Amino acid sequence: MNCLRSSKRFHYEALPRRGQHRPVLLEAAIDAMAIRANGVYVDGTFGRGGHAAAILERLATDGRLCLIDKDPVAISRAQQKHAADARCSIHHGSFAELGALADASGMRGRIDGVLLDLGASSPQLDEAQRGFSFLRDGPLDMRMDPSTGVSAAAWLADAPLSQIEEVLRRYGEERYARRIAQAIDASRQAGRLPQTTGALAALISAVVPRREMGKHPATRSFQAIRIAVNDELEELRCFLAEICDLLCAGGRLVVISFHSLEDRLVKRFMRDHSRIGDLPAGIPIVAESMRPQLRRPAKPVRPDAEEIRANPRARSAVLRVAERLP
Ligand SMILES: C[S@@+](CC[C@H](N)C(=O)[O-])C[C@H]1O[C@@H](n2cnc3c(N)ncnc32)[C@H](O)[C@@H]1O
Repeated sequence: MNCLRSSKRFHYEALPRRGQHRPVLLEAAIDAMAIRANGVYVDGTFGRGGHAAAILERLATDGRLCLIDKDPVAISRAQQKHAADARCSIHHGSFAELGALADASGMRGRIDGVLLDLGASSPQLDEAQRGFSFLRDGPLDMRMDPSTGVSAAAWLADAPLSQIEEVLRRYGEERYARRIAQAIDASRQAGRLPQTTGALAALISAVVPRREMGKHPATRSFQAIRIAVNDELEELRCFLAEICDLLCAGGRLVVISFHSLEDRLVKRFMRDHSRIGDLPAGIPIVAESMRPQLRRPAKPVRPDAEEIRANPRARSAVLRVAERLP
């Protein structure tokens, strides 16, 4: 992939402490949003608000920032930090609902920029009770919003064997998907389905015959189950299906992805909407409906070595940007 390196203007200090979230590709994301001081912006993944704070620094009193997160803990942080700021509105829910939110608040077609920084935040991964981590034993949950949906343990208890295998193969790109799914199925038939992240990690480690260098054998399965439990790819698809109608002309969509499945969705969406469909050569006028809706003003950006050293969780990040054409 032809990628720019993020600029060196931002200096990384000590490694983030456990439970702290260091915003990834902060400067590149803010540059890509091309913020206008009186514009209307959306941070669809507030997390701990690192990107949001940088956006707010660039907004004047008549600028607007809509903050969204599925995680109630993230939303309570947003309220503590920004409830008193008249520029901010705070919404607990999915960025997939941005279309409805835009309709309710008159933002449709008026948004100058949307940022999605996908995946889980460091506090989610570090807090054992959230059940995301195979390194910290906790209840097998993995929901970004524990107040709704089914936990990972409940999903594993009910999903057919073939679905578990499919999820592991497709979302985890796990070559031992069948073995792992069969081991999970055997454990539930015996009434011993793992109820904690540590027990599931141990079950997977016991059946994976060959380990990938530098990777815990449960890494791929945990990613896959998290994606399934949170319906992550479907929510991203729903969001992308609406975004062109939500942005104003010149509005920017900036997405930071952390694995190839979500990055592929974003990349294809931006590519497909930034070119004219297959037309016979020599057609002089292109119908309105066939004109591209997006332009890609910059190449994808990845973190440089300095950022990865300071924040190893940034290593797989890739940032893509697209601009709404008139
Ligand atoms: C990587 S963190 C974002 C960090 C943030 N940019 C910061 O600087 O602190 C991702 C956040 O997105 C949230 N999230 C994931 N999927 C979501 C969705 N579909 N809708 C809304 N929030 C989502 C997670 O709960 C998490 O808090």
